[in-house]
Amino acid sequence: MSRRPLIAGNWKMNGLLADAIALAEGVAAKRKSQPDLACDMLVCPPFPLLGAVAAALAGSGVALGAQDCHAKVSGAHTGDTSPALLKDVGCSAVILGHSERRTDHAETDAQVKAKAAAAHAAGLLAIVCIGETLAQRDAGQTIDINKSQLKGSLPEGANADNTVIAYEPVWAIGTGRVATPEQAQEVHAAIRAELVKLIGESEAGKMRILYGGSMKPENAAQLIALPDVDGGLIGGAALKVEDFWAIARNC
Ligand code: G3P
Repeated sequence: MSRRPLIAGNWKMNGLLADAIALAEGVAAKRKSQPDLACDMLVCPPFPLLGAVAAALAGSGVALGAQDCHAKVSGAHTGDTSPALLKDVGCSAVILGHSERRTDHAETDAQVKAKAAAAHAAGLLAIVCIGETLAQRDAGQTIDINKSQLKGSLPEGANADNTVIAYEPVWAIGTGRVATPEQAQEVHAAIRAELVKLIGESEAGKMRILYGGSMKPENAAQLIALPDVDGGLIGGAALKVEDFWAIARNC
């Protein structure tokens, strides 16, 4: 099954307006310099920077995404952003259930599932994040935790066109400690096997599963080459044009 890799940058809460424009323009220029690049590219800046980054990316082929959304289309939800609005300002994707949101905002699988359903209804690609903590890995619970988060977070109607899974072991995020190829492939294969049960063999075979957690130019080629790894969700290394591009060029 050949799946087109996705190289996605999660800028998290980093950068000011000028930084974001420079970064987006740099990524756009690299992407334009190689029209036959064999992967999709996406950047996900903080909410206030979406408009400026959309303008900087225009015509480059690099897609725009957000880092969260509300489960409703509109209403009295101070501080929140609806998927319909994200779509309207140029987003085609949204990251949901990142472990930092699960920790900082106590997001549950049920909430992630509702947000993913809303993202689908708005026509956005939902990038659903799952991953175990170090304590869970040490306790031998890695596969069970990921299966359970997957099952709890995927809404009805999830398919390979509207959903991407991001496996992000919490212990590898921003720590410089990357999963070994064996660890990554083991979990990705288990996620795909669970997807077969949840959405059927055909969609499971087509759905992209990204790895996230200290992916860098030095380790990306090995990870992206694994049979069940279909690209990366990249934090720190997505903040430098050269590093992000070096990762994308592995596809
Ligand atoms: O969503 C991306 C992420 O959590 C990985 O971050 O900085 O370890 O690449 P980083």
